[in-house]
Amino acid sequence: MTGDFDLFQTSDEHEMLRETVRSLAENKIAPNAAAVDEEARFPQEALDALTANDLHAVHVPESYGGAGADALATVIVIEEVARVCASSSLIPAVNKLGSMPVILSGGEELKQRYLGALARGEGMFSYCLSEPEAGSDAAGMKTRAVRDGDHWVLDGVKSWITNAGVSEFYTVMAVTDPSKRSKGISAFVVEKSDPGVSFGPKERKLGIKGSPTRTVQLDGVRIPASRMIGEEGTGFATAMRTLDHTRVTIAAQAVGIAQGALDQAAAYVKERRQFGRAIADFQGVQFMLADMSTQLEAARQLTYAAAARSERDAADLTSFGAAAKCFASDAAMQITTDAVQLLGGYGYTSDFPLERMMRDAKITQIYEGTNQIQRIVIARSLLK
Ligand code: CAA
Repeated sequence: MTGDFDLFQTSDEHEMLRETVRSLAENKIAPNAAAVDEEARFPQEALDALTANDLHAVHVPESYGGAGADALATVIVIEEVARVCASSSLIPAVNKLGSMPVILSGGEELKQRYLGALARGEGMFSYCLSEPEAGSDAAGMKTRAVRDGDHWVLDGVKSWITNAGVSEFYTVMAVTDPSKRSKGISAFVVEKSDPGVSFGPKERKLGIKGSPTRTVQLDGVRIPASRMIGEEGTGFATAMRTLDHTRVTIAAQAVGIAQGALDQAAAYVKERRQFGRAIADFQGVQFMLADMSTQLEAARQLTYAAAARSERDAADLTSFGAAAKCFASDAAMQITTDAVQLLGGYGYTSDFPLERMMRDAKITQIYEGTNQIQRIVIARSLLK
C-alpha cells in the first residue's frame, strides 16, 4: 500500500514538459490565435513551431522515430496548446486520433512507413469514421471497400473530418462485408495523393475555425491490400479502441481551453474596478471563480486518471475515457461561459479571447462522440 499516493501528482518530467510547451504556446501560438479564428485559416505557424520542437505527434513510439511520450505527456502537450489556441491543439490531438489505429492494430510495415513519416513531420494524420448518415451510429456507415486482386477499391463519403485537406494520411473505416454490420468493417490507410481522393468545401463553424473540417470523398480509390490496418472485419473495434484512447485527448483540450479562460478572467477581475474597488473584492465574483476553479481541477484529475488508464490500456479505459471527455467538456462549456460573464460586455467582444474560448469549448461536447453517446458508453460499462 505504501507509495500509492505519489500517483496523485505528475512527475517532475511531466511538469518540465508543461513549462516547455507553455512557453512555446505563449510565444509562438498565442500571438496568432485571434487572427487564425477571425480569418478561419489553418495555424501554419503552430504546426511549424510544434514540428520544429518535436511536439506535433509526441505519442509516436521511439521505435518508429517518435518522442515516445506517454499518454499523460501527450495530454499535457494538448492541454497547454489548447490553453492559448484550441484550433492549434488539434494538430497533436488529431495526429494521435488518425494514427492510433495503426499503432493499435497495424502490421510492422505500416507502422514503419506511416508512423515514421508522421514523426518526421512529413505529413499529418486524420481519422475518417463519420459519414453524412452515420454519426453517432458509426457502424451504420456506407463507404465500401471491395477487394480486387492485390488491391482494395474504396467508394464513399466521410464527413466532419478534422484537418482534412491539410493532412497527408487518413485512416478510413469502410464496409468490406455488408452482411455483418460492425464485424464487416475494416480500416485502411489512404493517402491524400491517392487518385480518387478529394475534399469538400470547409465547413463554416461556430468555433475551432482554424482547423479545417471537410468531407473526404473517395471515388474508386485503389490502394494496395497492404494498406489494410489489421485483419479484415476488425476495423470497427479498432476505431472504438482508438476513441477510448483519444477521448482522453479531447478531455485534455477541454481542460486547456477552460484553464485559458479562467486565467484570463482571474487577471481581469483584479484590474477591473467598479463601485470604487476591484470587482475581485466582491464575494459574488469570488464564488464564481471558486466554482470554476473547482470544476476545472476535478476535470483535470479525471483526465489524468483516464490518461493513466490509456497508458496501460486498462480494461476500464472505455468508461474512464468517456467520463473524462464528458465531464471535462461540460466543465469547459460552463467555465468559458462564466468567464465571458465575468468580463461583462468586454467578454462578449473579440477584443478579449473569452468569446473565442467559449465558442471553441462547444465542440468538445460534440466531437469524438457527443456527450450523450459518452453517457451510453459509461452506462453500458456499468451495467454489463
Ligand atoms: N473497444 C473494443 N471494441 C469495441 C468497443 C471498444 N471500446 N466498443 C465496441 N466494440 C466492438 C465490439 O467488438 C462490439 O462487438 P461485440 O458484440 O462482439 O462486443 C462491436 O464493436 C459493436 O459494438 P456495439 O454493439 O457497442 O456497437 P453499436 O453500434 O451499439 O455502437 C456506440 C456503439 C458506442 C454508440 C458507437 O457507435 C459510438 O461510439 N458512436 C459514436 C461515434 C463517435 O464517437 N464518432 C466520432 C467520430 S471521430 C470525430 O469526431 C472526428 C474528428 O475528426 C475529431
